[in-house]
Amino acid sequence: MEDIRQAVERAKIESELRSAPRLEPMRNRAADDRPAERKRSLREVKLESAFLQSRRIVAHDGQDPRSLPFDILRTEVLRAMDLKGWKTLAITSPTPGCGKTFMAINLALSMARVPERQVSLLDFDLRRPQVGRTLNLRATEGVTDVLEGRLDADNATVNVRAGSSNLEVMPTGSSSNPSDLVASSATTKFLDGLARHGQTQIVVLDLPPLLTGHDVISILPHIDCVLLVAAVGTSKVSEIEQCKKYLQATDMVRVVVNKAPLATTHGYYY
Ligand SMILES: Nc1ncnc2c1ncn2[C@@H]1O[C@H](COP(=O)(O)OP(=O)(O)OP(=O)(O)O)[C@@H](O)[C@H]1O
Ligand SMILES: [Mg+2]
Repeated sequence: MEDIRQAVERAKIESELRSAPRLEPMRNRAADDRPAERKRSLREVKLESAFLQSRRIVAHDGQDPRSLPFDILRTEVLRAMDLKGWKTLAITSPTPGCGKTFMAINLALSMARVPERQVSLLDFDLRRPQVGRTLNLRATEGVTDVLEGRLDADNATVNVRAGSSNLEVMPTGSSSNPSDLVASSATTKFLDGLARHGQTQIVVLDLPPLLTGHDVISILPHIDCVLLVAAVGTSKVSEIEQCKKYLQATDMVRVVVNKAPLATTHGYYY
């Protein structure tokens, strides 16, 4: 009886995944009302569209049709976050390589195009940090140094200008002991402090995969909501179900199906 119930449940999830709107694989083309707590960051970097497109980053340009799925997702996520007064959004996936960093950067850039929004993107993947590298920030310091007390947050932040987006990015180098660092009281204090920024502030965190370590489990209690990125050809239904169990105590705003072969947009409410 239990087996039948599980099979029915599995068939239901598989059918939902099949019918969910899709974010299609993206091909490379040729290439102040700031919150009172934050001072202006010291470094400013302007990124060119051609460079960004070569890294599949497109959502800084609202005229590029490829930014549409991110804009739709942004609208839905911001609506959900505003309704609940949430400020921090974490992006994770069941396993590596599903497109978390791709999603975090594009979604943050899309959010940053909304007038009055102040958006920060933090690389909290202390094992395989990729935000700085993807944006070519040439920064070796960031989140890890702030958590370990070597750098203050303003000096760890880069002001990224791309198209009509103005995004504050805190990259990171990798940590020699990420599990202990993310479980530390310094991390708790830092994450809890993020939610106290101004009304229009949104903080997007690029996290490691959920099922391959403990880091996300340590971070989740200090985050308002989560977006789960699953990838066609990579993510299994059983992995999404496992994530669902880990995320029971956390508000999940969306599951996004990435790298789907069919056109149209993105994920669905879970
Ligand atoms: N929709 C997409 N279409 C085509 N390629 C994509 C898409 N999304 C991501 N990719 C590519 O897949 C690779 C993995 O993406 P990304 O680094 O964003 O994944 P990740 O989940 O952050 O990986 P990790 O777990 O290692 O941090 C990158 O080369 C990225 O450019
Ligand atoms: Mg990544």
